[in-house]
Amino acid sequence: MKKIYLAGVTIAATLFLYSCGSNESKPAGTAATTETKTTAVNGETVYLKTCVACHQADGGGISGSFPPLAKSDYLADKERAILQVIKGKSGEMVVNGTTYNGAMPPQPLNDEEVAAVLTYVYSSFGNTGTPVTVAEVKAVREKN
Ligand code: HEC
Repeated sequence: MKKIYLAGVTIAATLFLYSCGSNESKPAGTAATTETKTTAVNGETVYLKTCVACHQADGGGISGSFPPLAKSDYLADKERAILQVIKGKSGEMVVNGTTYNGAMPPQPLNDEEVAAVLTYVYSSFGNTGTPVTVAEVKAVREKN
């Protein structure tokens, strides 16, 4: 009985030490690499949390209200797509030959999340696969 108790304490202590170790902050220097890479944030997770209600899980949008991201010709201009997410937009826009006149609110996402979600959008729904980097998002934010 006592042995089992001690074994339990040892396991608990080991787990405690292990979790302390894995909570250590990342070494300085990892930030610089995210500038050129796309990002470690999961774009699909951001999409499912932030965009899916309007643009739908298959990127098809909702006819007459929300334009499709699937095979969207609007995505040909990457800077415009980044701007769309960080600033939102209202008024007329033509997507794949159909005119929409709705309003998309600015999305409260950081640069990493914008890069991740757009990289996900570009690599899904039959789109071109163009990556969007954190540096590109930052540059568009600074210009606008
Ligand atoms: C509240 C609904 C809503 C949410 C949430 C939303 N959008 Fe939009 N989105 C719109 C509407 C409406 C338009 C068209 C705006 C217009 O008519 O001027 C649009 C247009 C776009 C466009 C340009 C047109 C196209 O279809 O290619 C892109 C790109 C886009 N949204 C991406 C996103 C991404 C990525 C997210 C999540 C980070 C997102 N949107 C979240 C409603 C939304």
